[in-house]
Parts: sequence; structure tokens; C-alpha cells
Amino acid sequence: MTKSLRLGIAGLGTVGAGVIKIVQQNAALLSARSGVSVEVTAVCAQSRTKNRGVDLSNYAWEDDPVTLAKRDDVDVYVELMGGEDGPAKASVEAALGAGKHVVTANKALLAHHGHALASAAETAKVSLRFEAAVAGGIPVIKALTEGLAGNKITRIMGVMNGTCNYILTRMEHSGLPYDQIFEEANKLGFLEADPNLDVGGIDAAHKLVLLSSIAYGTQVDFGAAQLQGIGEISIDDITAAKDMGYRIKLLGLSQMTDHGLEQTMQPCLVPYNSPLGQLEGGTNMVVIEGDNVGQIVLRGAGAGEGPTASAVMGDVMDIARGINIPTFGIPAAQLTSAPAAQSTTPSAYYIRTSLRDAPGVLANIARALGDASISIDRLRQQNHEGDSAPVLIVTHPTEPANVDKALKAIATNKDTTSDPIALKIVEV
Ligand code: HSE
Repeated sequence: MTKSLRLGIAGLGTVGAGVIKIVQQNAALLSARSGVSVEVTAVCAQSRTKNRGVDLSNYAWEDDPVTLAKRDDVDVYVELMGGEDGPAKASVEAALGAGKHVVTANKALLAHHGHALASAAETAKVSLRFEAAVAGGIPVIKALTEGLAGNKITRIMGVMNGTCNYILTRMEHSGLPYDQIFEEANKLGFLEADPNLDVGGIDAAHKLVLLSSIAYGTQVDFGAAQLQGIGEISIDDITAAKDMGYRIKLLGLSQMTDHGLEQTMQPCLVPYNSPLGQLEGGTNMVVIEGDNVGQIVLRGAGAGEGPTASAVMGDVMDIARGINIPTFGIPAAQLTSAPAAQSTTPSAYYIRTSLRDAPGVLANIARALGDASISIDRLRQQNHEGDSAPVLIVTHPTEPANVDKALKAIATNKDTTSDPIALKIVEV
């Protein structure tokens, strides 16, 4: 008799329905590939009556995810509800405590509690997997833990929030301002229930810290990530970047340095013609650099029913095949606690501000930059009406601390008429 692997799925939104479709439609393929019959036995969601376009009639229904997680006829608890705490955390803990494997798409849960949950999974000798939590359909967790296991990872960069990439590329193509495109994205249903998770860079930073943990063998540490969202990016920034051969992306960057682990998620300028610069709409891209492999680029859909369900099923299939890899690639007890490092890597920066158009004002700003040990590479004052002139500056490579010092001086200068912003230029 064929062995079976029984799934209990909590959360029947887009991704949950997608997982059920794959189990129903690709049953023969899943069985042929794993030697196991992959079945759904029980489900749980907020509404029992909602039409999700899938037949649930053969599955037991539970109202409580914790009860579902502990059912005797569930081998793998698939958590697709989301949320950093609450029912998601309680049910995953319950599943691991009851000796069930867990597959989740929940980046917030793992970014905040990943180390403790990975330890619990190891104690219970079960798998805790989260491919769907990072970059949707791109199998980046598998790439890092398995395909690149022979490499010392030197750097990871990524555009991992499709909504932000949609907003930034749509602003560029339409010439419309941030607020208008934000509303458009909202109407299209792209934004999370709390939009700040997307546009504040939090969702993407959750993903970045999970990748860092695998890449460098460190305990996941969301609090150590430096965050800046896209809300301050203006159409003028996008146009100026394009004129200079760059494009603005919400870019995650993670690297281990001599002084600790740098993890930043912030809008950056990247070369227009680079793979990252060419990324359009809601697509995600992760660039990984390793000592032997060099640079690899992974690109694909970062969200949506099919791509995210595909990632969930990749994890389920590993469990069906009897593959049990530690959650973050090495046993939790061996993950180190790396000090968080503020970025000190010198980069060129793009700085935008507005100044009163009067004699000597620009000279004062140039002096503020000089006092912060910053050398100007390019400078442009845009056409303007009235006596407030938009000024764009590109610096030679300098340390972030110098930029912070210069920004403070510019912001407090009596002739500055708009808060300055600085964006790192990343040559990739
Ligand atoms: N809101 C995310 C995005 C998808 O826009 O990419 C879920 O992480």
C-alpha cells in the first residue's frame, strides 16, 4: 500500500487555495516524485462558507488552528494564516510540540521567533520549512541551503517586495507621484492589510534577515536590520536617477564584515542596465554571491497563488521524500549570535534637497559636505519657479556616517527649504 503524507492546512486565502489545487490536480506527479501519496485531511480558516473555488468536501473542518495542528491524522501542519504572534505562533508551537512537521509562508513569525521555533523543531526531530516566506515562487531557501552549501556566502542583495517594485516602476513609467500610485496599488489589492509592512520595508526586511541566517549561520535577528521605506521617493528622484543611468529599487543588502553583520533594506540607486535595474512590476530578484559560485541571479514572481503555493509544495515534497534539513541550514544550537554592524561600506550617494535661491547658499551646502569629508562628484540645480531651488548632488564614495553628518548639517541650514534625503548608489 502506498504510504501517505497527510496535510492539515490553516489559512485558506489565495495561497491555501493554491496549495489545495496543486494537491488535487498534480496528485499523480507528487506521488511519482516522492513515492508517497500527498493528501489533505483537514483545514481551518475564518469562514467556513466562503467560496474559494476549490472542493473542500473531503476534508475535516476545524475552527481552531491549534486543534488542527495537533490532529492525529495530520503529519504536516501547513500554516498560511500569517501574523508574527497570535494563532500562527500558537499553532506552529502546538504542531511542533505534537511532533508534526511544519511548513509555513509566514516571514514575520520566523523573522521574530525563528531561532526558538527551529530549536523546537529539532528537539521534536521534525522539519520546519519556510520556502514560501521569502520571494514567493523563487526557490531561494533551497538555493542557499542546498545548491550553494559548498560556498562561503559573501553578499546577498534582493528586491523582495513586489508591491514596492510595482510602485517605483509604475511611477517611472506613468510620471505620476507616489501618493497616486500608492492608491492605485491599494485598489489593485497589492498592499498588505497594514501597508507599512510593504512600503516601510518591513516585509522585505523580514525576508532579508531569514536569508542572512542561512547564509552566515547566524541567529535570525530582525531588530538588527536597518530599515528605510519608499514613502519619501519623489518622481524627481526617479527621473534624476534615470538621467544618470540608474533606477531606484527598495534593495536589501546583507553581508558579513569584520565588524559584524550588515543588513540594510533601503531605497538605493542601481545601474539601469543591471539585472536588478531591469526588474519590472511585482517581480522579485535575489542576487547571491559565493566564494566559489561567483554571482547568481534568481528572478521570479514574489507573490500570488501559483508561485507561493509552488514554494509551499516544494517544502512538502522534501518532507514526503524524507529530507530533513535544519530550518536555517545548520542545527539551531550552532547558529551564532553575530553582532549587528552599522553599514560602513563606502558608497557613492545621491542627495536631494531644496535651497533658497540666493548668493552663497550653495557654497554653504558644499562646505557642509566638505566638513563631513564628502567630495562632490556631480551637482545639478533644477529649473524652478520662485526662490526655492531643487538641488541634486552625487557624491564620491563615502562612509554612511559622513552622509548622516552632512544631512544633519543641511537639514539645519537656515537656507534649506526641504528635508534632504540621501540614497545609496550600489554598483551591481
Ligand atoms: N506584500 C509582499 C509583496 C508579498 O508585495 O511582495 C508578501 O510578502
